[in-house]
Amino acid sequence: LVVEPASMVIFGITGDLARKKLVPAIYDLVHGGQLPPDFDLVGFARDSTDVETRLREAVIAHARTPFDTSVWAALTERIHFVQGSFDDTAAFAGLAARLVELDVRRGKSGNYVFYLSVPPSSFASVCDQLAICGLNRSAHGWRRVVVEKPFGHDLASSQSLGVALERVFPPSSIYRIDHYLGKETVQNILALRFANGMFEPLWNNRHIDHVQITMAESVGVSGRAGYYDGVGAARDVIQNHLLQLLALIAMEEPVAFDADSIAAEKIKVLSATELLGPLAETSARGQYGAGVENGVPIPGLADEAGFPADSATETFAALTVGIATRRWAGVPFFIRTGKRLARRTAEIAVTLIPPAHGSPAARAAAVSNVLVFRVQPDDGIELHIGAKRPGGGMHIQPVSLGMDFRSVFDPAPEAYERLICDVLRGDATLFPRREEVECSWRVIDPLLEHWAGFGRPDNYPSGSAGPESAERILSRTGREWRSL
Ligand code: BG6
Repeated sequence: LVVEPASMVIFGITGDLARKKLVPAIYDLVHGGQLPPDFDLVGFARDSTDVETRLREAVIAHARTPFDTSVWAALTERIHFVQGSFDDTAAFAGLAARLVELDVRRGKSGNYVFYLSVPPSSFASVCDQLAICGLNRSAHGWRRVVVEKPFGHDLASSQSLGVALERVFPPSSIYRIDHYLGKETVQNILALRFANGMFEPLWNNRHIDHVQITMAESVGVSGRAGYYDGVGAARDVIQNHLLQLLALIAMEEPVAFDADSIAAEKIKVLSATELLGPLAETSARGQYGAGVENGVPIPGLADEAGFPADSATETFAALTVGIATRRWAGVPFFIRTGKRLARRTAEIAVTLIPPAHGSPAARAAAVSNVLVFRVQPDDGIELHIGAKRPGGGMHIQPVSLGMDFRSVFDPAPEAYERLICDVLRGDATLFPRREEVECSWRVIDPLLEHWAGFGRPDNYPSGSAGPESAERILSRTGREWRSL
C-alpha cells in the first residue's frame, strides 16, 4: 500500500492535539520525505488569526526532528486555512470549493481525509455539514474520516456517535485513532507472541499467574480542564489505550496480520473481558493533591486552573478484569493509570506461576518469571529469571535479560506519523473498530456507575505511586504492583 496523494482537512487545527501532535507529525513526515509532493493540509478553525505562527511554534516545540526553515517553508506552501464554525454551511461550501481548487491546481484526483480533532460533541455537526456539502462521497477519489477519542463517555453515547458517523460515512471509511496502537512496542506485542515458539505454550492460565498493565505519567492535567474535568483517568486512557493493550496481550492468533483478522480476534477477547469484583476491593480511584517537584511546589488538581475546587474527577484509576475464556479463566489482569505519579512509564508485565518444588528450601528459592513489555520510555522487552549467585550454597538471585529497541533498530516514527501515513494508505489495521470501542465501554461502564454512586476519589500526593487503596487491590490477593 502506498501513501496516496490527498488533501487532509484538520478540523480544530488550532486545538491542543493538532498543535502538539498532528502538525508536528506532518512536519516530521515532510522532513523525512514520507508525504507525496501533492499532499495538501487544510486547517479549518473558528479563529484563524496568526495560525501559521502558532503552528510554527508548535512544530519547533513538539516535532521529533529538528526545525529546518526550508522544510517548514515547503510545508507552509501546502497549508491552507478555512475559517468557520462547525455548523456554518457557507464555510463548508467554501471548504469544498477550496478542495476542488487544490485538486485542479495539482492535478489530483479528489482524495480527502477529514480529521476531526474536535470534541465529540462536534462530531455530528461536522459530519452533517460535510454531507450537506456533498463532501462525504465522490464519484472519483476516496473520502476518509479520522476521529479522535474519547468516542463518547459511556456505551450509550458511544453508540450514538457511531450512528452519527455511519449515517454519513461507510464503516470502512472511518478511522478511529488510538495512538497507542501506533507505538512500535505495542505492535511488537503480536510479533513477539506469534513469531516466536517459546511464548505461546506458556500463554494461558496453567502458567500465567497474573498480568499488570501500567500507564503512569509524571505530568498533571494543567491546561486541559476543558477536556479532562468530568472525564477522568478511566475514560481518558483505560477505556481505549489500556484495554487495547489487554486485547493484544490476550487475543488468540489472528488467521492473518490484516485489519479484519486482527479486529475479529480483538473483538472476541474484549467481549469476554469483565470487571472482577467486589469493586470496592478490586478497584481504586484517586486524585492528586499538592506536591513538590525539584523543590518547586506544584498544585493539586483542585487548584489547577479550570477545575472546580470540589471536582470529583479521578486522575488515578486501577481495576481488575478477568477474561472468561478457557485460556484465561482465573487469571487476573490488574490495570492502573495515573497522572503526577513518581515517574513516566507504560508497560505490560506478565508474571508466570513459580515452579512447584517439593522441598521447602527449593520452594522458598523459586522465582516468578516476569516478562515485561516496556512501551515507553526505554522501549524494550525484559525477562526476569532467577540465577545462582556466585559462591558457596545455592542462593538464587533475580536477574534480568533485556532487549532495548533503540540499540537494535533505527529510531521509530512517532505514533501519529505512522497512523497518518496509514490513513493515507488506506490501511486500517491499527485503528480500533466500532465494536472494539463499544466492548471496552461495556467493560468499564459498571465501574463508572459504581464510582458515580458514592464518595470522592482518594487523595494521593503528587510524585507518589498513587493512593493506598490501589495497593490493597493486589495485597489482598498476596501480590504487589511493580514499583514505579
Ligand atoms: C492521551 C490522553 O490519549 O494520551 C492524555 O488523553 C495522556 O491524558 C496521553 O497524557 C499520553 O500519551 P503518551 O503517548 O504520552 O503516553
